[in-house]
Amino acid sequence: MGEQHAGVSAALATVDQGACDAMAARIAAAVDAEPAAEDAAGRWRTDYLDNPEVVPLNFTKCFAILEAAGGGSLEGRSILDIGCGGGGFVTQARALGMRPVGIDIYTGQAHSRSAAEGLLRSRGASEQEIAEIVRDGDITEPVGDLADRFDFSISVGMLEHIPDRDARRRAVENMIRVLKPGGTMLLICGPNRRMPFDLFHYGPRFPFYHQLPSRLKAPYMRRLIKPRRPDLNEVQTATTFLTGVSIREIEAAVRTVSPQAEIAQAFPIFVRMAVSRAWLKRPAAQVVVQAVSRLLVRTKSEPLILIVATRR
Ligand SMILES: C[S@@+](CC[C@H](N)C(=O)[O-])C[C@H]1O[C@@H](n2cnc3c(N)ncnc32)[C@H](O)[C@@H]1O
Repeated sequence: MGEQHAGVSAALATVDQGACDAMAARIAAAVDAEPAAEDAAGRWRTDYLDNPEVVPLNFTKCFAILEAAGGGSLEGRSILDIGCGGGGFVTQARALGMRPVGIDIYTGQAHSRSAAEGLLRSRGASEQEIAEIVRDGDITEPVGDLADRFDFSISVGMLEHIPDRDARRRAVENMIRVLKPGGTMLLICGPNRRMPFDLFHYGPRFPFYHQLPSRLKAPYMRRLIKPRRPDLNEVQTATTFLTGVSIREIEAAVRTVSPQAEIAQAFPIFVRMAVSRAWLKRPAAQVVVQAVSRLLVRTKSEPLILIVATRR
């Protein structure tokens, strides 16, 4: 990104597969589980079209990014998880010794809230602790007592579910407002409106759906997705399903609250994922990988958006 600061960017560059593996081992040790099992349990369970490869992200990587961007140990640090859903992230954050709070619109989603509470309970959290961690809240509404309180705010796969552009802007502004000065936001969402394909959720299938106006999106989604996944209930109300978001709109919202914020695009993740494949580690392939990476960052076209912003 044009205004990317070397500090945060340099820190993010240290987040490689090794750092993520080390983080997975730490989380697993904290909860006395095998790293792979813990990773699977904490993974963002987005099983659209039964293709786990489509979502190359798990919470372990989020913690590795936060630690690098936040400049030190995560232990004892406070974090607000926005759209915390089934509680995988807040549970792992607690295991790492962080002080998490999670908010979500749980109205009408009691199953999701129970899942979060049950997960924390299964890891030994007391009822009082659970009540403090899992909260009902809409990030597009004024933040009230959550303002200026957290070392970190994070949101994974939430922003694209907010259909209205103004509401999305308020959501990002509020993610900055909840931070203490110097606090760091990690916002992860997709699809990027600039990309023809939603590589995050559907791979190269269903091109352009996130760029369509609502009235066209619903029939398109029903026609293409429903035959494959008739149980995908979101398609029934698909008018606003997975809105395209742009990196520019996120940056503008951050700057509204914190004009001097340091904003960095975390690594172009698809490129990084690819890098972990052995044949792509060869020097010739690396040249291509680096070039693609630079192009994606410069044009703000990274399909999976990972924005790190530090409040100033
Ligand atoms: C795809 S889920 C992701 C859940 C979780 N972050 C994860 O990665 O597993 C999106 C979540 O965002 C929540 N959400 C959507 N709009 C929200 C809003 N305005 N404020 C808070 N949460 C919201 C939804 O209720 C849902 O639980």
